[in-house]
Amino acid sequence: MHVSKRLFELETESAFAILAKANKLQSEGKDIVNLGIGQPDFPTPQNILEAAKKAISDGHHGYTPSNGILPLREAVSEYIYNNYQISVSPDRILITPGGKPVIFFAALILGDKNKEIIYPDPGFPIYRSMIKYSGAKAVPLVLDEKDNFEINIDKLEDIITEKTSLIIVNNPNNPTGSFMHLEKINKLINLLEKYPNVAILSDEIYSKIIFENNSMPTLLKYESIKDRLIILEGWSKTYCMTGWRLGWSVWPEKIYDFANKLCVNDHSCPNSISQYAGIEALRGNQDEVIKISKEFEKRKNFIYEKLNSLERIKCFKPGGAFYAFPNISNTKMTGKEFADLALEKHGVAIVPGTSFGDSVNDFVRLSYANSIENIEKAIYRLSKI
Ligand SMILES: Cc1ncc(COP(=O)(O)O)c(C=O)c1O
Repeated sequence: MHVSKRLFELETESAFAILAKANKLQSEGKDIVNLGIGQPDFPTPQNILEAAKKAISDGHHGYTPSNGILPLREAVSEYIYNNYQISVSPDRILITPGGKPVIFFAALILGDKNKEIIYPDPGFPIYRSMIKYSGAKAVPLVLDEKDNFEINIDKLEDIITEKTSLIIVNNPNNPTGSFMHLEKINKLINLLEKYPNVAILSDEIYSKIIFENNSMPTLLKYESIKDRLIILEGWSKTYCMTGWRLGWSVWPEKIYDFANKLCVNDHSCPNSISQYAGIEALRGNQDEVIKISKEFEKRKNFIYEKLNSLERIKCFKPGGAFYAFPNISNTKMTGKEFADLALEKHGVAIVPGTSFGDSVNDFVRLSYANSIENIEKAIYRLSKI
């Protein structure tokens, strides 16, 4: 049997493998604290569950338009306006099964053999995987601890070439929890304006988990890049709906139809029940979203202090998402060795930095989508390493 060569370019998300290993150890009776997984530990809010039940009893069981039902795309447009005071036509909004397909589609549409795509390192592992699958060259933009893991504008300018077709930006960032403020985003836009042929994919999926009363500096605000900007967003993190598989994105007019064609070819349409639930999520009461973000901030403060109280660990202060990304180089172990030891000997599931890029051998990612008690227990165990 022949297997396409392209398949060997695909990589994976090792957080899923770590979750499987942690679950296996747990089923064998081991006491495991899981700080490996990147999903909120809260249930989907009740009003959204009710809307899904209603969608089932109302008989919304058939295919929907491939780009998502119009009332949902209108609700997204309204949500964008309410949050950012920007008008985006529902015709530019695409609903997909989770945010992930947007990365796939952007890479397929903008990647080619002779093209280069810039992605954050460390960053969500699917970026590099999808770029390589598209045939384009994956060019890492190293995010440095000394820059608070923010984009270094000079470094970015150095790696843009005439072959660059797409730059991927992720703010707030997975895995570091770094958050770039408006000032930095303005500088980024100034640079991007110099390269009008380069498209931008802005992954803003953690836009509602931002600390210290900061607000989201969305790239949607910038008219100058509107015709080459893709926004990746969704319900997974904001509304604790990772398993519902529902994401929204905004596409430039010029390539919207290609993205929609990929939807028809790939999955026909997003899940119909999830789409009706998604309308309620956006239009219903938002108190739960605020409450969850506050809870993550409390945990962030807790984990940040606890980690830095350990002798051989130092951790930079996260500004968003729900991850801490400590430097463990003083343990004289690599992140992989540290994470293996943490799980196998101490019952704490965490992810090595190298799962997110080649530049972060000395780091591990801890997800604080877990209770304060469990976080405390985990840090106590890590202190024994
Ligand atoms: C940065 C980032 N982008 C995209 C996604 C994909 O989200 P979804 O589950 O909606 O596909 C994730 C999920 O972990 C993520 O961390």
